[in-house]
Amino acid sequence: MPRTCLNFTITLIVLLFSATTAFAAKNAPHAAHINGGDPVAGKDKSMLCQSCHGEDGNSPSTEIPKLSGQYATYIQKQIRDFQSGFRKDPVVSEMAATLPNNQDMLDISAYFASQQPMKADEPVINQAGQDRFMKDGNGCVTCHELGGKGAGAGSPLAPLIGGQHKDYLVKQLKAFKKGERREVKGMMNMILGFMSDQDIEDVASYVSGL
Ligand code: HEC
Ligand code: HEC
Repeated sequence: MPRTCLNFTITLIVLLFSATTAFAAKNAPHAAHINGGDPVAGKDKSMLCQSCHGEDGNSPSTEIPKLSGQYATYIQKQIRDFQSGFRKDPVVSEMAATLPNNQDMLDISAYFASQQPMKADEPVINQAGQDRFMKDGNGCVTCHELGGKGAGAGSPLAPLIGGQHKDYLVKQLKAFKKGERREVKGMMNMILGFMSDQDIEDVASYVSGL
């Protein structure tokens, strides 16, 4: 290779390298958020999932949870829980069974995690719900963070719930209350044990409006 050409090639490589590291640095928080999977591969692999959860993870049906911007680690845990029977749903347990390949599961969860975090169409004012969410001590905010964005100081495993569909939230909170859905440390089950149906309605309204 002639010298000028070689110099040019080296400059190009250096430029490309710094562009990639700048890109990586800018996207660093996202890289941690998506937990090792490949979101591009995940987009193609998740066609079936998108048919219910929405192309970008914003499900049109209020009974089907939004997955957009959800933590990949949380999505993976739920898929494993559906596979093992720790969490049960007639349809979703079958869906989870279609993902025996670990890489597919990582890629699909990375795809949904890399989408814009779910958000309410419009804010909801519910003072009782807000008070329950923000309560000192065992308030939801301890684990689900301000805005319901999840991974709070109380539990890094707490999911993003702000802007989630209200119908879905109510169903899950009632399932935790009845013990039909369990949380590993039993915290959600314990907290819900002290909440009335009206409390659930209020807090779900508030959270869905974030
Ligand atoms: C036929 C519609 C349908 C399809 C297809 C579907 N899901 Fe779901 N999914 C649901 C419903 C409904 C729920 C809520 C179940 C419940 O109420 O507990 C759910 C729940 C989930 C959850 C739990 C979310 C949370 O916030 O806890 C995850 C993760 C999930 N699905 C991933 C997937 C993946 C990955 C695929 C593709 C392999 C998929 N789903 C395909 C309907 C569907
Ligand atoms: C001690 C920590 C902690 C507190 C406090 C807490 N949560 Fe949770 N919550 C969790 C964890 C961890 C999970 C994930 C459970 C799992 O892995 O299935 C969860 C799951 C949920 C889910 C299911 C989300 C989904 O996508 O399916 C909802 C809804 C929820 N919490 C709402 C609340 C509300 C409302 C409060 C307050 C009344 C609250 N949580 C208080 C830790 C907490």
